[in-house]
Amino acid sequence: MIEKFRNFRNWVIYQIYPRSFLDTNGDGIGDLNGVTAKLDYLKDLGVDAIWLCPCYKSPNVDNGYDIADYRQIMDEFGTIEDAKRLIAEIKKRDMKLIMDLVPNHTSDQHRWFIESRKSKDNPYSDFYYWFDEPINDWRATFGGSAWQYDEMRGQYYLHSYAVQQPDLNWDTPKVVKEMQDVVDFWIDLGVDGFRCDVIDQISKDFEGDNNCFGPNLHKYIHALFGREKAAHLFTVGECWAGDIEEICRHTKAERGELSTLFQFDHLNETGRYEGNNRNCKWNEKPGELRTARDILTKWQLLNQEHDILHTLFTDNHDNNYFLSRAANDTDLRYESATCIATMIYLMNGVPLIYQGQEIGCCGSHYDSLDDFDDIESINLYHELIGAGNSHAEAMKTLNFGGRDNARRPMPWTAGENGGFTTGKPWITMASRYKEINLETDLASEKSVFRFYKELFALRKFEEVLRQGTFTPLHKAEDNFAAYLRELDGRRICVVCNFDETNKIEIPEAHGEILLSNYGRTQGDERAFRPYEIAVYRMQ
Ligand code: GLC
Ligand code: CA
Repeated sequence: MIEKFRNFRNWVIYQIYPRSFLDTNGDGIGDLNGVTAKLDYLKDLGVDAIWLCPCYKSPNVDNGYDIADYRQIMDEFGTIEDAKRLIAEIKKRDMKLIMDLVPNHTSDQHRWFIESRKSKDNPYSDFYYWFDEPINDWRATFGGSAWQYDEMRGQYYLHSYAVQQPDLNWDTPKVVKEMQDVVDFWIDLGVDGFRCDVIDQISKDFEGDNNCFGPNLHKYIHALFGREKAAHLFTVGECWAGDIEEICRHTKAERGELSTLFQFDHLNETGRYEGNNRNCKWNEKPGELRTARDILTKWQLLNQEHDILHTLFTDNHDNNYFLSRAANDTDLRYESATCIATMIYLMNGVPLIYQGQEIGCCGSHYDSLDDFDDIESINLYHELIGAGNSHAEAMKTLNFGGRDNARRPMPWTAGENGGFTTGKPWITMASRYKEINLETDLASEKSVFRFYKELFALRKFEEVLRQGTFTPLHKAEDNFAAYLRELDGRRICVVCNFDETNKIEIPEAHGEILLSNYGRTQGDERAFRPYEIAVYRMQ
């Protein structure tokens, strides 16, 4: 692995959903100054880099993933001056900033689309996909046909997501050039990397049955990042690549494309597929932790064999908190949260943590659609009702799988609105925010935050945990995860119990205890308690 990629394994990346992080002017919407205000908090947690979900000018049909201007900040989030100050403050703390780049589509309010729809022969006419008739039966991710008739132009355009998110046509060289310029604009402002939204969709295979992995995909990614100016960036693709060869084509260093990808299998497989979405996040399925363990193990080994940089994550803004999906978020919430964190973040790769995870945030339960905001959930609700489901059944699905779960404001205090805003939050607070918030967590003997801090500090201190090899020690039938990290003869063993009680017989699991979520000490041979973890330094 090249030096640059190896160094990324020394980072901990924290994902921020700015709309819900901290509101500093009382309008109920989180803002960039709110991020700046919390940099010391993040530094204290052990964060090295911040990934900011889109904060560009946007009419917010899909909360910023519909961009109207890639060079301006969303009005509600602040100004470009606020962005510059944020970058300066990040640099002052020796941290990094990763921006969210959305190259597949723009908002229909973007100047390019406003021009493009005017006629068939304007300078922007081929910036999007226009046809006289839909040329296939593709569906949009947020429901309905992916083709929308536009009165003004008298043609259909492609939208893989909402109607207001037209797909850019990358086969037009000017589109590639414009996107290179956007990347350069942010590099010049000092950003250190990009998270690339649905990057696998920027080249279309119109003959195929889904709209990704088109024939020019690698050419276009290379055009963005295979340039001298972009060589230092950390780039992570949101990409649904399922096989290792495809992953290698994206991330082998010599290709000059991406540093790494998100691998979603462990999230997709921890829900039941019922034919209503691109992933299986909507429906509960038992045995999730073992399934996740097995999938993660498989990818750890494959990536290691192919010398590929792995991303380590369980949460993001597109899923309910993993804690609520896969473990016990009630009487064993602390134990579950710390168990999941240990299992994933001591593996081989780049840790990414999503806001709220560090205090054990979990899913909400609401009975009214008014407590939901997300276009995906609202469209799905109507689909489910249309298909004959009851209101209660539809709400159950939304509560379990909806993206709003992870998008509710960060609860900083036990006070009103969790200290997120002095105004009215743009979306209902999490249903358990009075119980689960930073202030209460810190006052508790069992603090998820303090555990995370210790976990990241351990990872930072022990080179073995960042750069060592990964060897699984669990067998398929075990109801725990156990693995070994090894470097130059130094060995660390990680054990995470999923069971209520478990006598774990692993010869390696002895020695100095580096981390425990139950206060286990050396020589303690007791059975592992529910969700108990221990990290051992091998003698
Ligand atoms: C990605 C984003 C998601 C967004 C979609 C369309 O999946 O993570 O939030 O809705 O792309 O941009
Ligand atoms: Ca605000």
